[in-house]
Amino acid sequence: MANVVVLGTQWGDEGKGKVVDLLTESADFVVRFQGGNNAGHTLVVLGETYALHLVPSGILHPGKVSVIAPGVVVDPDVLLTEISELRKRGVRVGPDNLRLSGKAHVILPYHKILDAAREAPREGGRVRIGTTGRGIGPAYEDKASRQGLRLQDLFDLKVFRHKLESALLEKNCLLKGLYGLEPFDAGTMMAKATEWAENLGPYICDTFPVIREALDQGRNVLFEGAQGTQLDLDHGTYPYVTSSSTAGGGAATGSGAAPRDLGRMVGLVKAYTTRVGEGPFPTELTDRTGELLREGGREFGTTTGRPRRCGWLDAVVVRTSAALSGLDCLAVTKLDVLRGLPELRIATHYDMRGERLEYLPPETRDLALCEARYENFPGFDEDIRGVKDLSGLPANARRYLDALRDITGVPLGLVSVGPDRDETIILSEFF
Ligand code: GDP
Ligand code: IMO
Ligand code: MG
Repeated sequence: MANVVVLGTQWGDEGKGKVVDLLTESADFVVRFQGGNNAGHTLVVLGETYALHLVPSGILHPGKVSVIAPGVVVDPDVLLTEISELRKRGVRVGPDNLRLSGKAHVILPYHKILDAAREAPREGGRVRIGTTGRGIGPAYEDKASRQGLRLQDLFDLKVFRHKLESALLEKNCLLKGLYGLEPFDAGTMMAKATEWAENLGPYICDTFPVIREALDQGRNVLFEGAQGTQLDLDHGTYPYVTSSSTAGGGAATGSGAAPRDLGRMVGLVKAYTTRVGEGPFPTELTDRTGELLREGGREFGTTTGRPRRCGWLDAVVVRTSAALSGLDCLAVTKLDVLRGLPELRIATHYDMRGERLEYLPPETRDLALCEARYENFPGFDEDIRGVKDLSGLPANARRYLDALRDITGVPLGLVSVGPDRDETIILSEFF
C-alpha cells in the first residue's frame, strides 16, 4: 500500500491541483476530504486549462476513481455545472469514476445568503473574514449543530422536506429578523431538490467501503487537500480561517480512512506567499515587488477572481504547518515566478518584542506584533520553465531551494517550474 496526502502549507492556492493531477498518474483513487467550492484548483495539461472546485483533481486521468468524501460540503448546482463543463470538454465523468458520499453535507441557498449577510459591513457586526461567499461557514455550522441536510437525504424527498422545514424555522428568523432579508419557503425549494436528486442520485453512495476496500487491497490512494494549513479551523490564524480541518489530520476524519492509512504527507509550498481575504500576513509586500509577484504569478483567485495579497516566503508558516501535519516532503511551486527579482528573501523567524519565534504564536492578534526576520539571497534571471532536473537550474535558484529546505527542515519532493503538468522537477518517489 502506498498512499499520499497533498496539503497546502500556507493560506491556499499553493498549486495543489497541479500536483494532485500530476501524482494521479500513479494513483488509483483520488479523494477530496474537506472544504467545498471555496477551493479553486487549476490544472494545465498540454496548454489546456481546467479550473476545478469540487471535482477531485484526478478526474482528467481515465481509469481513476475520484471520491468526494463525507468531510466535503457540496453545492449541488456547482457540482452539476462542473460535471457538465468537463463533459463538454471531452472528459469522461460518470458514476463509475466519480463517487459522492451520501454523508457529505449540502450547501443550500440560505447558507450563501447568510455568508454574504455576515460579511456585509454592519454596526457591531462580526469581524470581516473576506470569505469566498460560497456558503461554506454556514453549511459547516449546520453540520456541527446537527441541523444540516446531507446528500443522502435526497434519496427520500419527504425526509429532505421535513429536515428543510425544520432548519428554516431558525434560518428564516435570522434572515428576516436580523438581516431584514426575504425568508425561504421549503415548498419552492423542493423543485431544486427534485432536480438534484435526479441528477446526482446515481453518483451518491456510501464511500466508506469504496475507500476501505481500496486501502485493504493495497490500491494507491491520493488524498487531495483544499485550502491551506493556516486556514485550518482549529490550528490556523483564527478567525481568519475556513470552517474545515485543512491540516493533515483532516484527511483521516474527512475521508473515513484510518490515520495509519494516510501514508506520505506532502506539503505544497509556493516559492513566495499569497493570501486571499482578510487576516494577518507578516511577510506581505505592498510595494512594487508585491505587484511583480502578483503579475508574474497571475495571482488572482480561481474561485472569486480577487487579487491575491503577495509576500515573501514565510518559513515560520511552513515550519508550523510541517509540524502540524508531520510533512515528509515539500512540493515547491512557482519557482519560475521569482525570475528577474534582483534579491530573494525568506523569513526565517519572527521577532515579537525581543522574543524569537520559530512557530506562529497562538494568539492571532499577536501576529501584528511580530516582525519577520529575513535571510536574503541573490536572484536569478534565467528562464527555468523547461528545466527537468535540479542540475539544470541556475545556481542561485538551487541556493534558494537549498535554503528553503534547510530553514524549514523538510526535504524537497518536487519543484514545479511552470503551470503545465510537464513543467516539474521530480526529486523523489511518491507512491
Ligand atoms: P490550488 O488551489 O492550491 O490548487 O492552487 P490554484 O490553482 O488556486 O493556484 C495556483 C496557480 O498557479 C494556478 O493557476 C496554477 O496553474 C499555477 N501554477 C501551479 N504551479 C505553477 C508553477 O510552478 N509555475 C507557475 N507559473 N504557475 C503555476
Ligand atoms: P484552495 O483550495 C485561498 C479563504 C477565503 C477567506 C477564508 C474563509 O483553492 O487553496 P470561506 O469561503 O472558506 O469561508 O473563506 O478562507 N479561502 C481560500 N483562500 N484558497 C482557497 O482554496 C480558499 N478557500 C477559502 O479567501 O479568507
Ligand atoms: Mg486555489
